[in-house]
Amino acid sequence: MPNRDYHAERREYGFASLRRADLHTDPFHQFSDWMETALEKTEQDATAMSISTVSADGQPHSRIVLLKAFNSEGFVFYTHYDSDKGQQIEQNTKAALLFFWPELDRQIRIEGTLQKVPRETSEAYFYSRPKDSQLAASISNQSQPVASRDLLEEKLGNAKSQSDATLTCPAHWGGYQLKPCYFEFWQGRPSRLHDRFRYQRLSKNDQAWQITRLNP
Ligand SMILES: Cc1cc2nc3c(=O)[nH]c(=O)nc-3n(C[C@H](O)[C@H](O)[C@H](O)COP(=O)(O)O)c2cc1C
Repeated sequence: MPNRDYHAERREYGFASLRRADLHTDPFHQFSDWMETALEKTEQDATAMSISTVSADGQPHSRIVLLKAFNSEGFVFYTHYDSDKGQQIEQNTKAALLFFWPELDRQIRIEGTLQKVPRETSEAYFYSRPKDSQLAASISNQSQPVASRDLLEEKLGNAKSQSDATLTCPAHWGGYQLKPCYFEFWQGRPSRLHDRFRYQRLSKNDQAWQITRLNP
């Protein structure tokens, strides 16, 4: 095994600055502005985000999912409810999201609690997806071991040969919405003197957010 170091892997961050006066008082507006810029200026997967959940033994688990909807209620992604993440969420609804857009030198951290979206919402999105994605979601026991690639392809082939009328949104597939209580916007700056602002909800039912600049 080669013994490598990456000490020289560094660059300066200087795409933009972030000042208190630039910030929206509402973090959802701030998120929306940054997401619009990311969609416009990054090559692909601007909506990819890491989601971390915690299992019953206290072990955190992270993976990428795609953000599919967002409004002042929260952030929605779709997955398999019986997957590892689904089982972790069943035990502990607290989760953390992370967006990183290297081209913009920007990171957003979001923390909050998850709940399933209404069944009608999941079904409406399921039927809007390309047919092959619907079929793959139907035949995959996400996070369970599978003996071979051939077996997966055989299952997909069998599903494809069945009539469209039998393809329904599986009960195991659907969306989660994360309702945030914490945001942090990070803008990389030269010489590692980065700009960081956190938004904390003052109380559970309050719409007001306290904004604080943090040391880099
Ligand atoms: C770019 C990208 C997008 C992904 N989007 C999703 C998604 O929207 N939903 C999903 O369930 N998994 C998605 N995945 C796969 C997950 O990262 C993960 O492998 C899967 O959800 C199983 O995670 P779990 O075993 O922790 O439940 C995506 C992976 C990548 C790299």
